[in-house]
Amino acid sequence: MTGMPQQHDVVDLLTADHREVQELFEGYRTSADPGERRLLMEQITVEIVRHSVAEEQYLYPTVRKALPNGDEVAEQEMEELSEAERILGDLERLDTADRRFDALVRELYDVVSMHIRGEEDVIFPELRERLTPEERMALGLRVGEAKSATPTEPYPGGTQGRGTQGRGTQGGGTQGRGTRNNPSSHSGGVGDGVSNERPLAERVREWLSG
Ligand SMILES: [Fe+2]
Repeated sequence: MTGMPQQHDVVDLLTADHREVQELFEGYRTSADPGERRLLMEQITVEIVRHSVAEEQYLYPTVRKALPNGDEVAEQEMEELSEAERILGDLERLDTADRRFDALVRELYDVVSMHIRGEEDVIFPELRERLTPEERMALGLRVGEAKSATPTEPYPGGTQGRGTQGRGTQGGGTQGRGTRNNPSSHSGGVGDGVSNERPLAERVREWLSG
């Protein structure tokens, strides 16, 4: 999970990421506590974004070169991941008690499942065939380093402590997040007038890319 980067085959490493996200979704499905569900959704957000950034940086450039239809495949996967991040942003603006919340989580789960199937059924077997073990290990090392540089908390933008705070203030939705200490926060066009805090997915991505 975290700590010193370890050498792993990139395919194994990214497959383990997929399992981790699926477990978080399972935790969400089996939890009835709104605060816990919100926390799990934040964890899912961070996991999905850092997985996306790692794949964009290290996996898809290789896919483009190594697979005969690599450009098409990489574009398709990146579109799915963008869609997942868009849904995560929408989810963040809703209260967990909102009827639309669960429907959106299901939509997110479907998109993520499609991503996982696309990679595990098509891309990863191709990479196992077309790359040498050394090449896959070298890529895995870079992905491992990227992951170890990712903060799990505090999240960029000062969402630290929202978990406990959130348990008591769920009714406030995005408006209730009082502790804004994100100096780089600006209205990036994603707001709907409810909050000037940008979605967590966007802030995590910015942090990782910067
Ligand atoms: Fe993936």
